[in-house]
Parts: sequence; structure tokens; C-alpha cells
Amino acid sequence: MDPEVNRYILMNEAKGLVPGYPESMKNILGINVAEVHGAVHKRIRGSLLSLVGPVALRDQVLPKMDKFMRSFLHNWDGKTIDMQQKSMEMAFFVALELVVENEPRSFHQSFDALFQNIYKGTISLPFKIPGSNYYQGLKAREKVDVILKMLLAKRKASSVTYDDNLQQLLENDSNYKLDEEEVIEQIITILYSGYETVSTTTMMAVKYLHDHPKALQAIREEHFNIKQNKRPEELISWDEYKKMNFTRAEKGLESHNYNMLFGAGTRICPGKEQGICKISLFLHSFVTNYRWEVVEDKLLTFPRVIAPNGLHIKVTKY
Ligand code: HEM
Repeated sequence: MDPEVNRYILMNEAKGLVPGYPESMKNILGINVAEVHGAVHKRIRGSLLSLVGPVALRDQVLPKMDKFMRSFLHNWDGKTIDMQQKSMEMAFFVALELVVENEPRSFHQSFDALFQNIYKGTISLPFKIPGSNYYQGLKAREKVDVILKMLLAKRKASSVTYDDNLQQLLENDSNYKLDEEEVIEQIITILYSGYETVSTTTMMAVKYLHDHPKALQAIREEHFNIKQNKRPEELISWDEYKKMNFTRAEKGLESHNYNMLFGAGTRICPGKEQGICKISLFLHSFVTNYRWEVVEDKLLTFPRVIAPNGLHIKVTKY
């Protein structure tokens, strides 16, 4: 669609122009923030912003994300990696860790498998035939509901206080008056909205930096400047993150009004800063620890950006 038309629709939702999502997405994801309007949208969005917005990022989330990236990237030396696959894993597991901490690895893995079915279902045609992606997506959504209900019950009965989105959702309940169904929908919304967006942008950033050596050199300088003043185990602070101007490229993204990467109007992405931060922290660990050669990087850009055979890179220590 023409970017100007896009912008017009996004800016005018409050005045009665209501953008819609595909059938499969609506049916699998349920009544989430993207599907509600007016006062309900304000309430659900308010709750989401308190979880994934910039204040939570600065005060609670940033060090956890840095820790995650370091451990995620720690053993890539000498390996050939599919960046498409790795970016998807990164985007999903970092988000899940922020939603529920301290669950065993087996929980993360089984949740990942269900989430993959949900994701595939939402981008498939809505044919409710056993075996179809859409059908499997609906089934996975039912199972996720059961798992999350059990998790909620476990948390409500526990005397331990956790520092994660689930805990905040339970505590925020009274602020935003979310019922159990809405809490589950918020969790799915967080996992879903930050998935393809963050993973594709990360993969594209790695490809872009490979294809533009001057940009790679500039980004390396920026990150080594930050790293050289720290002990190796010291996590990135908010001020240091804010110094990643070249990496965050925020001004560039915002100043072009044709660039709608994060949307606009009443639905502008509430996870914008969190998304930029995840990618920046990934790149911080990546460019300061490794160099890489592209082995295969054929891309299709329509209707979504994908590397049909994967984006394979050979990684070595920097
Ligand atoms: C590079 C990363 C990201 C990009 C490019 C991106 C892009 C967008 C865009 C374009 C929209 C607006 C859609 C519309 O106008 O209807 C949006 C909405 C949204 N995004 Fe993001 N996003 C990113 C990361 C994230 C993350 C990490 C989260 C959550 C943790 C998130 C949560 C949301 C939510 C909940 C909405 C719906 C807001 C509403 O309807 O009020 N996004 N995002």
C-alpha cells in the first residue's frame, strides 16, 4: 500500500477509520490489543505500555536483556550459523524470559514449539482442515491457554515474588482491571508482536552490516568505545545504551515520514524502544566478539522478508 495512505489510516483511527487484521490472525490470537478500539484499547494498551514501554526498559528490563544476549551468543566461534533461525530464537526466547522467569528449559522448548504453530497459523489462509497450518495454529492456541492458566494458578498460590511480566500482570490487575482471559491475551500479544518484527530486523541488520563495511566499522567503533570502559562482566547501563546513537539510528527512522517501521497515531508501537534495545544489545555482543562471512544470503522481500534457504554465516572470534 502507498505509505501516505498507510499513514493517513494510522493517524485517523481515533476519528473512525478502523484498520483491520487478517482473519487467521484474529481467530488465533483472539481479542488482543490490535482488535479492540476506543476506551478498551486505551486500557489494554496502558497495561502493555507499563510492561514493554521505555520506563520498564530503563528500570527493570535492560540488564536482563544484556545478560540474555551474552549467554545466547557465547559459543558461536568457529560455527556456521543460520542467522534467520538464530534471530527467531533470540526474539522468542528473550521475550519469553521476560514474561516468565525461572521456568525450566523444557518449558521454554515446549512453549516454543506451540508458538511456532501459532505464528505459522496466523500467516496462513484460514482453512479449518485438520493438518493445515491454520488448524494447527488454533489447536496450539488452545494448548497455550491451558498452560498459561496453569502457570497463573501456580503463581497465585506461590508466596515467592517474581520479577517478570506475569507477576506485573497479576499485580497490575487492579490498575487496568484485566480479567484472566485478558492477562493471557496480553502475554500472547507480547510474544507475538515482538517476534517477526525483532527477528527480521536483526537478520537484516546483520546482512546490511556485512554488505556495508564502512557501517560495520562505525558500529564496531561505537561498541568498543563503550566496552573498553567496562569490566567484561559488567552489564550495559541505560546511559551507555543511550550512547549507541549509530546503532539505534532512531533519528533516521523517525525523521523520514515515509518510514513507517513502528507505525503512527494511537497505535504506534508500544514496544518500539524495547525492540530497538534488543537489537542494539544483540549487535553489541555480536560485533565486539565476532567477525563473519556470508555463506548464503538469498532474500525474498514480498510479502514478508525471508531467506528461503536461511541466511548462513561463518562466524569467527574478532
Ligand atoms: C523492530 C521491532 C518492532 C517493529 C518494527 C514494530 C513495529 C510495529 C508497528 C508498525 C506497529 C503498528 C501496527 C499498527 O499500526 O496497527 C506495532 C504495534 C505494536 N507493537 Fe511493535 N514493533 C516492534 C517491536 C515490538 C516489541 C518488542 C513489542 C513488545 C514487546 C511490540 C509490541 C507491539 C504492540 C502490542 C503493538 C500494538 C499496539 C496497539 O495496537 O495499540 N512491538 N509494532
